[in-house]
Amino acid sequence: MGRLIVVSNRVTPLSGSKATAAGGLAVGLLDTLRETGGIWFGWSGDQTDNSVPLPKLFRSGKITYITIDLGREDFEAYYGGFANRTLWPLFHYRLDLASFEREWYLGYRRVNRLFAEQLFPYLRDDDLVWIHDFHLIPMGEELRRLGLKAQMGFFLHIPFPTWEVYVTLPWHDRLVQAMCTYDLLGFQTSNDVRNFHDYLYRENVGYALAGGVIYGYGRRLRTRDYAIGIDAKDFADMAVSVEARRASERLARSLLGRNLIIGVDRLDYTKGITERLAAYETLLQNFPRQRGQVTYMQISAPSRQDVPEYNDLKLQVEAASGRINGRFNEFDWMALRYINRGFTRRTLSGFFRLSRIGLVTPLRDGMNLVAKEYVAAQAEEDPGVLILSRFAGAALDADGAVIVNPYDIEAVAEAMNMSILMPLDERQDRWRRLIAQVREHDIGYWRRSFVEDLRQTVPQEEEPEAAS
Ligand code: G6P
Repeated sequence: MGRLIVVSNRVTPLSGSKATAAGGLAVGLLDTLRETGGIWFGWSGDQTDNSVPLPKLFRSGKITYITIDLGREDFEAYYGGFANRTLWPLFHYRLDLASFEREWYLGYRRVNRLFAEQLFPYLRDDDLVWIHDFHLIPMGEELRRLGLKAQMGFFLHIPFPTWEVYVTLPWHDRLVQAMCTYDLLGFQTSNDVRNFHDYLYRENVGYALAGGVIYGYGRRLRTRDYAIGIDAKDFADMAVSVEARRASERLARSLLGRNLIIGVDRLDYTKGITERLAAYETLLQNFPRQRGQVTYMQISAPSRQDVPEYNDLKLQVEAASGRINGRFNEFDWMALRYINRGFTRRTLSGFFRLSRIGLVTPLRDGMNLVAKEYVAAQAEEDPGVLILSRFAGAALDADGAVIVNPYDIEAVAEAMNMSILMPLDERQDRWRRLIAQVREHDIGYWRRSFVEDLRQTVPQEEEPEAAS
């Protein structure tokens, strides 16, 4: 069995802060790396003035972590620019927030080349190379250019948009061509796979055969959806741990028996936080019986603070929170608790278990693991209700959730009211259906499916004459 080489912008076990460390993805990938041995490669989290950064190596058991610093200008163009201000908004259907700067694209390509050059000397042709997410789309192409023969897979954690949206990117063809140099492309949902196939047809650069096999830019490769999951048992155990209980008991004391609605997201415009706040305001306005009976806690950890659109969002959320509290608060009841910092996953698991409603209403999301964590944390004897956006990848595998259109503010308010009033047997019935899916399609299932498929791909097959 060959080694596994994982590449991601952030090397999560090393660069995760206390609030995000050892998230589901990191744990899932670490398990595989521990079994097969291998390398986890990525950005160190630091910027440097050296033009050629030296990789830093750190060994732990059978895993070698290799990280590199990035030059300030490269980092700005690659991460602050092309990844976060071009690809992120565009792939989440926010054309209005996407900027297309040639310098950023060139910086993105430079950093991908640098990553490839720095990793290449450590690789062997019998390795399995698994590259992650939109920061590193062209890295596989760069590794091939350097002569790597190993099987290479790529997983896109965010949506792949429809053709109409995607082709607004001036370099759309270059990125899809780069994607076609992998042997396996993984997407979160069947919609993303369909959008990718559709691009190939419409641009006349390839086509799909049965079973996800495609010919793209003259190469044969496989495409498939692999919905990422969580370690459901681990998260459920966390929710009854001492730390989680201590936090949730403190929270419960402060609620004085009121129902808790919880939202937990990075402070990101894709998450629909301002729409969600508007829906809560509408709930209090249209269903006055809920006033004083319910508390909404929105936890939004700061994210990508150097990107101006994130700062704009922060101001909008602060303004909306202030308005709602000013309008509805009583001297002995606070309608909304807005918290602009992160908590450990352990503490969050306790908060989830206590909440009557988990509000997960992104405007667009590749998958959304908060939805799955909320389900995993519930107590069978008194589970809460998951209100989930139809535009989260998670909604495709969430029979039992209350599915909403997050743009429909009145409907989300009605869904909240209905969920607060929902009888216990219906909550239990919905939860049992949800937890079965969360357990079955867990993080282990995700990475095993991907790695198995990658192992079975046949690299470097050319398109047969007859098909062209
Ligand atoms: C999304 C992306 C990840 C990214 C994370 C946090 O989930 O798919 O690749 O790491 O957001 O964003 P950040 O910019 O802080 O890495």
